[in-house]
Amino acid sequence: MEMPFSKPQAPKRRDHVIAVDLGGRTTKAVNVQRRGDAFVLTSYAVLDAPVSDRTASADVLAEHLKSVCANLEGRCKAMSLAVCVNDSVVRQAELPTMSVEDMRMVLKTNSRIYLQQEYPNHVFDCHVIPSPALEAEGQKPKHSGLQKQKVLVAGARAQLLDELQEAVRGAGFVPDHVVPNLVGPINAFEYAQPQEFANEVVALIDIGFNGSTISLLQQGELVMTRVLATGSDQLTSELAESMGISYAEAEGIKVGMPAEVEGQLAGLIGPLGRELRASMDFYEHQHDRPVTRVYVSGGAARSELILQLLQQELMAECKPWNPTSFMEISVPAQQAAELEQVSPQLAVAVGTAMATL
Ligand SMILES: Nc1ncnc2c1ncn2[C@@H]1O[C@H](COP(=O)(O)OP(=O)(O)OP(=O)(O)O)[C@@H](O)[C@H]1O
Ligand SMILES: [Mg+2]
Repeated sequence: MEMPFSKPQAPKRRDHVIAVDLGGRTTKAVNVQRRGDAFVLTSYAVLDAPVSDRTASADVLAEHLKSVCANLEGRCKAMSLAVCVNDSVVRQAELPTMSVEDMRMVLKTNSRIYLQQEYPNHVFDCHVIPSPALEAEGQKPKHSGLQKQKVLVAGARAQLLDELQEAVRGAGFVPDHVVPNLVGPINAFEYAQPQEFANEVVALIDIGFNGSTISLLQQGELVMTRVLATGSDQLTSELAESMGISYAEAEGIKVGMPAEVEGQLAGLIGPLGRELRASMDFYEHQHDRPVTRVYVSGGAARSELILQLLQQELMAECKPWNPTSFMEISVPAQQAAELEQVSPQLAVAVGTAMATL
C-alpha cells in the first residue's frame, strides 16, 4: 500500500474505487468512477465508526467495511482508506535531491535526521513540493544528491498498514492506497475549487471528532499544517458539563437545535477558534500575506451556527464547501436530496478517492 498525497506521480491505475474515511466517530465512504475526463459519484455512506478506541482488530474492521459497502450502491474491487492523524505522520522536510523510492528508504533508517524524531517500523511515502524557481525555468530537479528539496512526508506503522490491508481483503476488496486524513481535504479542494487552489492563500480547516486540522495552501503549495487536539467531541462534552445534562442530550441539542445553546457554544468554540487563528497569524507574519479564504469541512461544518461562531473568532469568513461539486452525481434519489447537507463531512473520503484515481 502506498501513502500518496496529491495527484499520484505514478500513472493512474484505477478507474473505480471505494474510498473509506475511518474517522474517530463516523465512517464516511464514497464510490467514485472515472468516465473519460469525468468523475462520477455513484453513492456514499455515513455511519458510526465500529468502536471508539482505535484498537479495532482486522476482523472487526473487515466486518465494519462489509457493512459500509452494504450501504453503498454499485460493486467495485478496489478500496482505499484514510487513516486519522493519530495513526499517521505528516511532516514537511528537506531531503537531498533523489528519487521518491530512495527517499522512502532513507527515511526508514534515518527518520531522526530528517523528521527530528525516531519512527521505528514505519513505512513512508514522499511528495516532492515543486520549487517555483525551478518550475519557472522549466527545469526538473537533478537527482544529484547535492541539492536539497522540500518534501511532504507521510508515514504510518508498518503493522497498522498490514492490519488495514488484511481488513480490506477480509471484506472482499483489493487494498489500494492508504492516505493520511490530513491530506484528504487538500486533494479534494484541488478538484472542487481549482481557481482558488491555484491563485489564493487558503486555509482548509477540518473539524473532526477527536481533533481538528488546519492546512495553509499558498497558490497550490502546501505551506503549513497543524493538528489541534480540539474537535466536536470536546464541544459536546463541555456543553453537557456546562448544562448538567448527558452527553447524548447535549449532542442532540448541538445538532438538532443549536440556536437554543448559542451562548454556550460561542464560549466553547473560543479556544478552538483562537488556536486556529494563531496558526493563521503565524503564516501571515512569516509570509507577510493575508489568508484570503477559509474553508471548513468535517461534521461540525454542517452547522451554520458553528461556522458563524468560528467566523467571529477567526475574524475571517468561514465557508463550508462541497467536495463533490466537480463530480457527476449519480446517487440514489434519497442520497441526492441529502448530499448538499452531508457533503462537508465527505471531504476526506473524496480526497482519498482522488488520490487513487
Ligand atoms: N449538524 C451538526 N452540527 C454540529 N455538529 C455536527 C453536526 N453533524 C455532525 N456533527 C458533529 O460531527 C462530529 C463527527 O465529525 P466527523 O465525521 O468529521 O468526525 P470524524 O471524522 O469521525 O473524526 P476524526 O476526524 O477526529 O477522526 C460528531 O461529533 C458530531 O457532533
Ligand atoms: Mg475526520
